[in-house]
Amino acid sequence: MSDTLFTILGIAGSLRRESYNRALLGAARRLAPPGVSVELYERLGEIPLYDEDLRVAQGDPEPVRDLKARIAMADALLIATPEYNYGIPGVLKNAIDWASRPPDTSPLRHKPVAIIGASTGLFGTVRAQLQLRQVFVFTESYVLGKPEVLVPRAGDKFDSAGELTDTATRDQLAKQLAALVEWARRLRAG
Ligand SMILES: Cc1cc2nc3c(=O)[nH]c(=O)nc-3n(C[C@H](O)[C@H](O)[C@H](O)COP(=O)(O)O)c2cc1C
Repeated sequence: MSDTLFTILGIAGSLRRESYNRALLGAARRLAPPGVSVELYERLGEIPLYDEDLRVAQGDPEPVRDLKARIAMADALLIATPEYNYGIPGVLKNAIDWASRPPDTSPLRHKPVAIIGASTGLFGTVRAQLQLRQVFVFTESYVLGKPEVLVPRAGDKFDSAGELTDTATRDQLAKQLAALVEWARRLRAG
């Protein structure tokens, strides 16, 4: 990790073209502190369904190798999760499952992670975020505790171009990005 450029890989757990969660990552990119770059992962839809037989027989498919390499290269991850039926979307869990195997060489192991999420409902992905934290216990990833970024009623927080217009959410996101960088640097320093 260089002192001058800190790279965060942003993964949105939605395949929807106008996803609020992808738009939230776009806002993170623009709100990142100087020297910090937020790169967007755009290949979630290419990850096949997890199949242990396939993995053992043929190794990771190319999109999975690419995902793992991008995670490994990043100094930290920023996961923007939608909430589907009180949990995280299957596409996101599926990608995490691939990235988590085999556990001893998984790039998720000891990786600093921050979680954010936007929903059209009233609770702003709180249940999905809790579930995602639980998933990252088993992958031995280091999830930032606070500040949390929950975006309820997302339809009111973004304009028609997908720009995050809500000032309080923008401030909270900027604070979380700064905290994530500090968290990762502290972990790296030991
Ligand atoms: C299958 C499904 C289940 C959903 N379940 C929830 C839910 O449990 N809580 C919630 O707040 N919103 C729920 N929603 C609404 C999502 O918050 C909304 O579709 C949101 O836009 C998804 O994120 P995205 O814009 O990034 O795709 C659900 C949507 C779908 C498609």
